[in-house]
Amino acid sequence: MHGEAPVGVVGTGYVGLVSAVCFAHLGHHVVSMDVDAAKIAALREGRAPIYEPGLEKLLEDNAARITFTTSHDDLASCRILFVAVDTPPSPSGDADLTSVRRVVAEIAARGGDRIVVMKSTVPVGTGRSVVADLRAQGAGGVRYVSNPEFLREGAAIQDFLEPDRIVVGAFDEADGEAVADLYRGIDAEVIHTSVPTAEMIKYASNAFLATKISFINEIANVCEQVGADVRVVAEGMGLDHRIGPHFLHAGIGYGGSCFPKDVQALKQLAGNSGYHFQLLNAVIEVNALQKRRVVGKLKQHLRRLRGARIALLGLTFKPNTDDLREAASIVLAARLRDEGAEVRAYDPMIESSEHPLFPGVTICPDAAAALDGADAAVLVTEWSEFGRLDWAAAAATMRRPLLVDGRNFIDPAVARAAGLEYEGIGLGDGLSDLD
Ligand SMILES: NC(=O)c1ccc[n+]([C@@H]2O[C@H](COP(=O)([O-])OP(=O)(O)OC[C@H]3O[C@@H](n4cnc5c(N)ncnc54)[C@H](O)[C@@H]3O)[C@@H](O)[C@H]2O)c1
Repeated sequence: MHGEAPVGVVGTGYVGLVSAVCFAHLGHHVVSMDVDAAKIAALREGRAPIYEPGLEKLLEDNAARITFTTSHDDLASCRILFVAVDTPPSPSGDADLTSVRRVVAEIAARGGDRIVVMKSTVPVGTGRSVVADLRAQGAGGVRYVSNPEFLREGAAIQDFLEPDRIVVGAFDEADGEAVADLYRGIDAEVIHTSVPTAEMIKYASNAFLATKISFINEIANVCEQVGADVRVVAEGMGLDHRIGPHFLHAGIGYGGSCFPKDVQALKQLAGNSGYHFQLLNAVIEVNALQKRRVVGKLKQHLRRLRGARIALLGLTFKPNTDDLREAASIVLAARLRDEGAEVRAYDPMIESSEHPLFPGVTICPDAAAALDGADAAVLVTEWSEFGRLDWAAAAATMRRPLLVDGRNFIDPAVARAAGLEYEGIGLGDGLSDLD
């Protein structure tokens, strides 16, 4: 609030920028820092460098309370500094903490009496090792709090402002209270824990959600063998309050910047500590195979993929984001290209006709262009516009009107009425219970 020290946020990615803008929305003054000069230049002009619904508007509404900078020196007046930089997977599968370590070194070099708050997802034990580093660098006045983030891309602002819970792990109770206090105005339970426990809550949550997805995907695969409809199975399961309805949507597997790397990192973390996390191995393997099952379904219908023209509808890892990290589309497009198929794709977030993540794939300006002359279409991302598509018109332009719906997004009855051959995920003998 006015008169208080501003909140610092390092990193202006999906988590950092949303956090900065939301803290400003809660009434705090915020200094938002990134090493990426292009991002900071865009933000200074009021443009968000990432796509997230509602973000630019919130940025505009709170512009008076946020300053953007590329310099750590401008964070000098911040007593509480959030770290929201990337922690990508390293070749070993462990989380790569290079960016985190760089930021901590900059903070240590400036010392002072402040709290570093880790919002990035970091392995259990990171807090302790950062504190040891800070002490070794003579920055003993810099304390540490873990405050993992649970927002989902595409709904990030709502998730930040209306979270299911706020987790604050601290070595010192007063530091934890100071961080929790920044969230005043948000109606959510605050869980105060130790630092390692907070770090583990984040990994365990993501690993559990990924497990739910792989579980329902395996149920879907069995449904196909035995003639059951996974959508109705999921509904029937989800009504049991011990199970709950969420994350029981069968499809082509999880992707994105969090689940794949966090599940892998937890597996590595367990392995490094001497524990073989058997369940997570299966979760990862099922997810990898699930992406490839689509190729099998196409082969069943088309027999050969060599020379076939396949349209991919949607490339981002989920709708309402421009994020392509670990998207299922990347593996799928590469497999189809390797099989000799011609791949044409459309995604509302990708404007250029080619993209480095999709070598050899023609990216079309709209769905109709991707579908024109196609031997099959695969719905990869459930963008709402695909629900509104004139499927009858699309089917008429396809060489073979086959739709493999990787998200069970289009009603099979609607697809068939439009003249499409329809294949979903886990819909038994193809005769849906919901028809
Ligand atoms: N994206 C999500 O949905 C999500 C959700 C919860 C948690 N997380 C976690 O939050 C962290 C950030 O994720 P993200 O998706 O926002 O990443 P991102 O890649 O979108 O953003 C990271 C930002 O940090 C900046 N950066 C890197 N090194 C820096 C440095 N030394 N100094 C200043 N800035 C630096 C980058 O330029 C980039 O803008 C990760 O640990 C991720 O696992 C992400």
